[in-house]
Amino acid sequence: MTVTDTPPPPATPSTVGAPILEARGVTMRFGGLTAVKDVDMTVNEGEIVGLIGPNGAGKTTFFNCLTGLYKPTEGVVTLSGQVIPPKPRAVVVAGMARTFQNIRLFANMTALENVMVGRYCRTSSMALTSILRGPKFRREEAATRARAQELLEFVGLGDSAENLARNMPYGDQRRLEIARALATDPKLILLDEPTAGMNPQETKQASDLIFRIRDSGLAVVVIEHDMRFIFNLCDRVLCLVRGEVLVQGSPGEVQSDPRVIEAYIGGGDDDEDDDPTPSLDAGTTQEEQQ
Ligand SMILES: Nc1ncnc2c1ncn2[C@@H]1O[C@H](COP(=O)(O)OP(=O)(O)O)[C@@H](O)[C@H]1O
Ligand SMILES: [Mg+2]
Repeated sequence: MTVTDTPPPPATPSTVGAPILEARGVTMRFGGLTAVKDVDMTVNEGEIVGLIGPNGAGKTTFFNCLTGLYKPTEGVVTLSGQVIPPKPRAVVVAGMARTFQNIRLFANMTALENVMVGRYCRTSSMALTSILRGPKFRREEAATRARAQELLEFVGLGDSAENLARNMPYGDQRRLEIARALATDPKLILLDEPTAGMNPQETKQASDLIFRIRDSGLAVVVIEHDMRFIFNLCDRVLCLVRGEVLVQGSPGEVQSDPRVIEAYIGGGDDDEDDDPTPSLDAGTTQEEQQ
């Protein structure tokens, strides 16, 4: 008789469901430059999808097309089967939130206030209610504040509510951006280089946080250069090169695909080094794009 009669828990808590985001034929041209070319991407409920590719591959531009910052030259984006108008507010209301490669916080507001701002797209307090500051406004304000505090705790910043965003360490600012995005009650969150500039311990915390976000019922798309982070985290990975999907598949498939290795060592750069042992553990890099 053994003491292990009960079956072990499932290896992964992820259960992939119906498609939530579908991007079809997304193309973005800037004059003569095609930054994103005919990209299809499906994200299912409960999935974490990675988007990788060398600098300048079009990853951020693709996010900008998905979130209404850019109106794609061609293509359609649907969320839960509904076509989303390419306008940032419509996208947020439809249930898609994002963070930015270059952190965009209200520097002179507290952490709590930054998250509360994210919440306002879900409150009914219109201009007049806010001006009158009646009981309805105060009730909503209190609920917004409570939810914002809850989200700060969720991302591990419960003790930083009153700190000004500009005084917070870099890694905390990145988590604060995630809390603000979560405050919009999204079904899907897009993270553009969430670990850029983080140390290994912060990167591990970011990865734990993304798993918890997924476990709370959201789908996630994440752009990163840190390959170890991506391959440990994602259910599926797409590799974009020169605006096009070069390869997509499981982390194992993408990691071992010679075209992906080639894209990283040869792609786009003038560096023609013949390194016989390329590594996809590219570490973190930072660049100054949106
Ligand atoms: N607003 C813009 N106007 C002109 N070119 C742009 C604009 N945004 C991005 N690009 C160009 O599109 C290409 C893809 O950039 P980007 O999406 O930032 O790449 P990645 O995020 O993969 O590093 C680059 O050549 C970049 O210079
Ligand atoms: Mg980018």
